[in-house]
Amino acid sequence: MTNAAKRPSGGSSNSKSVKRAARLSTPVSPTSADRGYPRIVVPPPGPRGREIIARDKKFASTSYIKAYPLVIARGEGAMVEDADGNRFIDWMAGIAVASTGYAHPKVVEAVRQSAGDFFSMCSTDWYYDNFSAVLERLAKIAPGSSKKRVFLTNSGTEAVEGAIKLCRNYDGRKSIIAFKGAFHGRSYGAMSLTSSKVKQRASFGPFLSGVYHEEYADPYRTTFDASRFKDAGEACVAHIEEDLFQRAVPPEDVAAIFIEPMLGEGGYILPPKSFLRGLRALCDEYGILLVCDEIQSGVGRTGKMWACEHAGVEPDVLLSAKGLASGMPLGAIIAKESVMKWEGGSHGSTFGGNNVACAAALATLDLIENEYMPNARKMGARLMEGLKKLQRKFPCIGDVRGEGLFIGVEFVKDRKTKVPAKQLVDDIMQRGFRNGLLLLSCGSSTIRVAPPLCLDEYDVDAGLKIFEKTIAELT
Ligand SMILES: Cc1ncc(COP(=O)(O)O)c(C=O)c1O
Repeated sequence: MTNAAKRPSGGSSNSKSVKRAARLSTPVSPTSADRGYPRIVVPPPGPRGREIIARDKKFASTSYIKAYPLVIARGEGAMVEDADGNRFIDWMAGIAVASTGYAHPKVVEAVRQSAGDFFSMCSTDWYYDNFSAVLERLAKIAPGSSKKRVFLTNSGTEAVEGAIKLCRNYDGRKSIIAFKGAFHGRSYGAMSLTSSKVKQRASFGPFLSGVYHEEYADPYRTTFDASRFKDAGEACVAHIEEDLFQRAVPPEDVAAIFIEPMLGEGGYILPPKSFLRGLRALCDEYGILLVCDEIQSGVGRTGKMWACEHAGVEPDVLLSAKGLASGMPLGAIIAKESVMKWEGGSHGSTFGGNNVACAAALATLDLIENEYMPNARKMGARLMEGLKKLQRKFPCIGDVRGEGLFIGVEFVKDRKTKVPAKQLVDDIMQRGFRNGLLLLSCGSSTIRVAPPLCLDEYDVDAGLKIFEKTIAELT
């Protein structure tokens, strides 16, 4: 019998808290100052965890890395419980996926109900209610006033892949501009745009031709001499026009610019607003499509539904996935109607937008709009304040930046030289885990703070205490 099968279902009680508590080995109290987490009852991984890891290691593809030996058994809100009963505060949401936390009762109910009706009915060929409801919902919440059309996928990568096809098909142009540090996925098209870690590309080429990687505007580590410009954003946009378009590719060959409006895997970097605005203007001038990859930054995480809204920019194509369905596999290509006009049958998917994932997305979007997007702003401000305090205390914290619950804490060996403190960040991640806080790094030496959007004051304050203790232990 699996653990899930052994677990009580919550019986027939109408009380949500009773239903939620019944799934855990011992209940979590939502109100008490001592909620019963974090708690480390056995140094992780404990015996059950080690058993699962040993089986995994025997049969898993050698490409998996695993950040640390967490073996999740269940979760609730921003709390994760492992296979041995240890409980952690979660500041990484499975890489920004668990947007509504773990097993939110409303999402669970939507999944249960839709699964009771049917799982899947190839959306390329037939119709169903949840699918059309998600299309309408996404078209309406996409930024800007132009009418949108939507294609649903199973993952972020698949959305990127489809968007490359859409943009090349649009008017026959073939070249694409992407950015250094960007992560767009690992299939051939997406990987051709990815420029995050060389390991992700090494020995896999050749990639798509006609892809050019330009500098991402990083206010903390400005690459160009920006003295001619107001900021790094303007400098990076000017470089495309003054260098790339003069030496490497004429703008009339460029189909699209793919950009993460806030850089995720590459270091949780927030560019100046001038960057996205400048790219929008450049695209308008040369008839290039602007594609915002919001797979990590979207769905309320930054305190607005989409990160590009902070710059007031409407992309031609917007990509979503990760938190969109709280962890059920769903991605989306949301494009202006004037752009999404590829021929019937030219693109499709068997499982993309399956009934269960769509139901989870509808429940997720309700929660995000009504509760968790405002909460991301509120808790984001609390976290930023706490992290800035830690920056004042620890010289190894070079920079703290963020919007909502998309926050980067960059560690350096020296504040003047800004040499990345890679080993320290890895040590913090490992030690944080053993201290009861789930963290994840990104870029060369940044901790990305991307918790479930439902975390509350307790999760922020208790998490900050462990973060502080962990840094103090290591420095
Ligand atoms: C910005 C961005 N684009 C694309 C992807 C790929 O998404 P997936 O892993 O769902 O294929 C990711 C995943 O981390 C991402 O962060």
